[in-house]
Amino acid sequence: MQLKRKQFFLQLGLACIVALLLIADTYAQVENPYPPSPFPDRIVLNVTQDPSTSLAVNWRTHDSVRAGAGEIIVAVSNPAEAAKAIRVKAQTEQVVHKEIAASYHAVQFSGLQPGTRYMYRVGDGNYWSEWFHVKTAGNANEPFSFIYLGDVQQGMRSFWPAVIRDAYAKVPDAKLIMYAGDIVNRGFNDHEWGELYYGGSFIHSTIPGMMSPGNHEHADNAEGVNELTPLWRAQFSLPQNGPQGLEETCYYTDVQGVRFISLNSQAIWFGGDGMQKQINWLEKILSNNPNQWTCIIFHHPVYSVKANRDNTNLRENFQPIFNKYKVDLVLQGHDHAYGRGMEKIPMPEGEGTSPVMYVVSMCGAKMYEENNQPWMDKSGGHLQLYQVISVKNKKLSYRSYTVTGELFDAFDLVKRKGRNNKLVIPK
Ligand SMILES: [Fe+2]
Repeated sequence: MQLKRKQFFLQLGLACIVALLLIADTYAQVENPYPPSPFPDRIVLNVTQDPSTSLAVNWRTHDSVRAGAGEIIVAVSNPAEAAKAIRVKAQTEQVVHKEIAASYHAVQFSGLQPGTRYMYRVGDGNYWSEWFHVKTAGNANEPFSFIYLGDVQQGMRSFWPAVIRDAYAKVPDAKLIMYAGDIVNRGFNDHEWGELYYGGSFIHSTIPGMMSPGNHEHADNAEGVNELTPLWRAQFSLPQNGPQGLEETCYYTDVQGVRFISLNSQAIWFGGDGMQKQINWLEKILSNNPNQWTCIIFHHPVYSVKANRDNTNLRENFQPIFNKYKVDLVLQGHDHAYGRGMEKIPMPEGEGTSPVMYVVSMCGAKMYEENNQPWMDKSGGHLQLYQVISVKNKKLSYRSYTVTGELFDAFDLVKRKGRNNKLVIPK
C-alpha cells in the first residue's frame, strides 16, 4: 500500500513537470513565434552598388551556429554539377535582441557575369538552404522591370502575401523590389520581421530588395535619441556608399541605365546634420550620374496625400535638387493612401509640368482616408496596391495594380533631349 502511494505521487510529480514544460514551451512559442533554428531562415537578397556583377545575401540561424558560407555557380540542370559551386565564407555576428539570440550571416558574391542565371545556397556545412536561382542585372540600357511597394507595415502574413505573390507572378524576372519604408509596424519587434519573411517567402531570396527605412523602423532610445532598429543592419547588406552614419539607409545602386537612390527621410524629418549630409551627398551623386534615368525612394512624401501631413524639410531642401537634376521618379510611402502627380509650377513654354513625377502608395493592411490634394492627378484609398515599372531605353512605363490584379493607374515617361520628360497617359 505504502509503495503504491509513493508510485502514485511519483507519477503525479512527473506528470506535473511534463505539464509545466509543455506550458513553458507553448508560452515561449507565443512570445517568439519565429525562433531561429540551425537551418538558415530570413534569407534575403539585397541590391549591391552594381547588381550586374555582385549579389549580397543575408540569413539568420540559431546563435549556436557560429559560421556560415554561401555557394554559387552558374545555374545547372544536372544536380551533380552543383558540387562545382564556389564557396564564400560568411561574415557572422551574434545579436541578442530582446532576449532572442541569433547569428546573422552575410555573404557577397562578386566577379559575376552580367545577365547570367546563377544558383546559390547558404548554410554552414550541415544545414543548407535550397538552391535559389537568380539572374544578375544586365548591361546599361537593356530593358528591365522592377517592383515598387509602399508601406507593408500591417498584415504581413495575412493580407500582404497576396500582393507580393501577384507582383512576382507579373514580373518574376524583376531586377529589384523597392520598399518605401515602414516595412513592418515596429521595427524593434523581431516577430514582425518573422511575419514579413513568412509573407514574402522565397521571393525575398530571389529578387534583390532595395529597402528604405521609415519612421516605424526607428524608435527613441532611453536617452530620447531616435535610432534605427539594430535588426536593420544585422539582417540586410545594403550598399555602404552613402554618407557616414547613414550607411545602408541612404545609398545608391545602378541597374541597367537607372540610378536608384534611397534617402533616409527619417533623418531628413529631424533635420540637422543627418539632413545636411544627405543634401551634400545627393548633389554629388546626381551631378556625376552616367545613367539615363534616375529614381529615388524614401518614406515621408514631398507632397502628402493628406492636408494635415506635411514634410517641409523634404520639400524645401530636396525638391530644388530633384528639379535641378531632373530626377524622373520619386517613390514614397507613409500616408497609407494613393497619390500621383507632378509639381504644379510654371515651366518654360511647352514643358507643361515640372520634370519630376511623385508617387505615394501602400500595399499592406493599414489604410487612411483618401484625399484629393491639388498636386494629385490620380488618387485613391482603401486599396492594396503594387507597382510594376518597366524601362526600355527612352521610355519608362509605370503600372499600378490592385491586389486583385486590376490596373489602377498608368503613365509613361518619354525622354526628350534637353527637355523635360513627355508624360503620356495610356488610353
Ligand atoms: Fe510612416
